[in-house]
Amino acid sequence: MTIQRICCIGAGYVGGPTMAVIADRCPQVQVTVVDLNQARIDAWNDPDLSRLPVYEPGLDAVVGRARGRNLSFSTAVEAAIADADMVFISVNTPTKTKGLGAGQASDLRWVEACARTVAKAAQGHTIVVEKSTLPVRTAAVIKNILEAACDGEDQRTFSVLSNPEFLAEGTAIRDLEAPDRVLIGGDDSGSIDALAEIYAHWVPQQQILRTNLWSSELSKLTANAFLAQRISSINSIAAFCEASGADVREVARAIGTDSRIGPKFLNAGPGFGGSCFQKDILNLVYLSRHFGLPEVADYWESVVALNTWQQHRIARLVVQKLFGTVTGKRLAILGFAFKADTNDTREAPAIRICQDLLEEGAQLVIHDPKVKADQMARDLNQEPASQVDRLSGIGSWAEAGSVEDAVMGADAVLVLTEWQHYRNLNWQALAARMRKPAWVFDARAVADPAQIKAAGLCLWRVGDGEG
Ligand code: NAD
Ligand code: UDX
Repeated sequence: MTIQRICCIGAGYVGGPTMAVIADRCPQVQVTVVDLNQARIDAWNDPDLSRLPVYEPGLDAVVGRARGRNLSFSTAVEAAIADADMVFISVNTPTKTKGLGAGQASDLRWVEACARTVAKAAQGHTIVVEKSTLPVRTAAVIKNILEAACDGEDQRTFSVLSNPEFLAEGTAIRDLEAPDRVLIGGDDSGSIDALAEIYAHWVPQQQILRTNLWSSELSKLTANAFLAQRISSINSIAAFCEASGADVREVARAIGTDSRIGPKFLNAGPGFGGSCFQKDILNLVYLSRHFGLPEVADYWESVVALNTWQQHRIARLVVQKLFGTVTGKRLAILGFAFKADTNDTREAPAIRICQDLLEEGAQLVIHDPKVKADQMARDLNQEPASQVDRLSGIGSWAEAGSVEDAVMGADAVLVLTEWQHYRNLNWQALAARMRKPAWVFDARAVADPAQIKAAGLCLWRVGDGEG
């Protein structure tokens, strides 16, 4: 079976870029990305490519080549499903906030809604592909819903595959165009071949891995758990370094040159953020308990606990270094996104650190090259202040249009996202704008420590025992 028409349900951070690259690499395949969110679809259709709803380096060029040729974005969900040979489900699967499994289990309401819409609208034979990250055995639920719709005279047939996405935000296009591997899980070799044929347009055959459904679903959770575990491990050692006089970058280099450990994902920082790591580990924790494996659950839960601790630890040490109080003090926050090169703030470490400092009565002035003020307001659950009463004890925040504006009169600068711009700041000039004694808290260790010290600023760097 050769696929001619693809529908992707969910035009988010994964659905949009993934389908744009498939359309770009397979000009003979018609790709329609659908979503219920009209504003999001309008943004994907915006003639001005700088206004796409997802910021990813290189995405504008890919969308520019394929859109209007064989890539389209629409809210006509059922029509696109009816037309497609293959339907990707790429909708959100956040952690449940209430009910059974609240705080850990994945909320599958959107996935189930997709399965029911596919069951209703599909025609002929349809291959349904799980692109969302899902709990192990979700494919059985999807199959169940699809099969229940096909009783009696119904001639329609379905096949379900798992094809998790490993892209990281900020490097999504590079990750999609040159993936380490593509993983396809399924029990129907014809359907697996059909999906493999799509990827074979640009991915070498030996990098297209085939597994059973459950291994594929579990591999995605496991990959994220292992990556997040490395970050918690290095952050635990960062705290140890600060206490003992060692330097975490030297330790990371020393262990990372061991080929069994490898050098990647050893950057200490303010803890991992993003929509995936915490959610997927908590899902693994929930499933472990479900399968009667409490020790396994506890083991993975500690990775998240260490991450949360690291964020509170940074906020606490800012307060301690600023004479035990930040009430009424102006603190410049550089970076709000959960990592550089994205406008995504989901689970960003900046959120928890800022909230702790607001609780202490600080006046935050936040700069981020890509995150908009209305997003910051939603994340902090607080509107920006128009007027500030410094000694009221009530924390407030405002957005700054530039780093220079953010640091004006500030007692401290906190670097929370590793934007390239923050690596090359003129600390001499910035120091002149700050109230003394002034601090730099470099939670990403991106600024030049020698320059900061030469500018007469006090410095704390994550994992630096000399800081
Ligand atoms: P997202 O929230 O950015 O996008 C999901 C989209 O699905 C939204 O636009 C929403 O309106 C739409 N949607 C929800 N229900 C729908 C329905 N019934 N019909 C039509 N549209 C519907 O989410 P995302 O970041 O793209 O993540 C999607 C999935 O991919 C998640 O399972 C996530 O864990 C996984 N994933 C994400 C990343 C990442 O870097 N963001 C990486 C790998 C895997
Ligand atoms: C992650 C996985 O990398 C990707 O494979 C999966 O598909 C989705 O989840 P993402 O969350 O987009 O991708 O970004 P990633 O680069 O993994 O960073 C996650 C968080 O870890 C960020 O907050 C980042 O700053 C932090 N991080 C990463 C560190 O603190 N140190 C590191 O060494 C690496």
